[in-house]
Amino acid sequence: MIGIIGAMAVEVAELKKLLQDVKVDCISGIEFVQGTLNGKDVVVAQSGVGKVFAAICAQTMILKYGVSTIINSGVAGTLTDQLHIGDVAISTGCVEHDMDTSALGDPVGLISGINLITLPTDPKLAELISDICDASGYRSLRGVIATGDQFICSTEKRQWLNKEFQAIAGEMESGSIAHVCYVNNCPFVAIRVISDEASGKAPEDFSSFVVEVAKISSSITQKLIEKL
Ligand code: ADE
Repeated sequence: MIGIIGAMAVEVAELKKLLQDVKVDCISGIEFVQGTLNGKDVVVAQSGVGKVFAAICAQTMILKYGVSTIINSGVAGTLTDQLHIGDVAISTGCVEHDMDTSALGDPVGLISGINLITLPTDPKLAELISDICDASGYRSLRGVIATGDQFICSTEKRQWLNKEFQAIAGEMESGSIAHVCYVNNCPFVAIRVISDEASGKAPEDFSSFVVEVAKISSSITQKLIEKL
């Protein structure tokens, strides 16, 4: 069983439409839609926005559905001049940028206990996604995705995230899913299509482009499932 998580309804709508033999459970307020996609067993869930909802969703997929892989599909703000609206950020790792115990002498972003700043994600899945993007005509870049409970809409913050973590895209869930997957030994990758430039006009761009670019992420996810 493969788990697919999107934060918002638009990030999972297209994938849910493709499912056959559907069974739905509601756990902790999250709807888990089980079914087959191109003959593969999957469970798709709209986690809700932010790290806690995403973590609840990922842990539930692992414990209740026994997923062997989790894919996070959705949208993000770009943190690099190499990615613009409609381009695809593919995770090589994820950080929780709002994790900060620097007052105690730790580096910013360090996750105590596992002592990591960058949570690794699955390189084989990233490679497959990169190939899909090349074959489908989408510009893509592999790199670190930065997650925090915050919508990024300032040039200063965007520059800081890129300088501090070499992050290429910013959003609000993949870091927490990567954290859950890391401690459970579950392969994970995030696909994030750029909806905005994470600068002053990010809120307007996000509203204009979220539906269109979320569809791109869903279509890449569907192609990835075919290959697994
Ligand atoms: N998701 C899409 N754009 C985002 C942004 N600028 N900040 C956080 N999450 C996002």
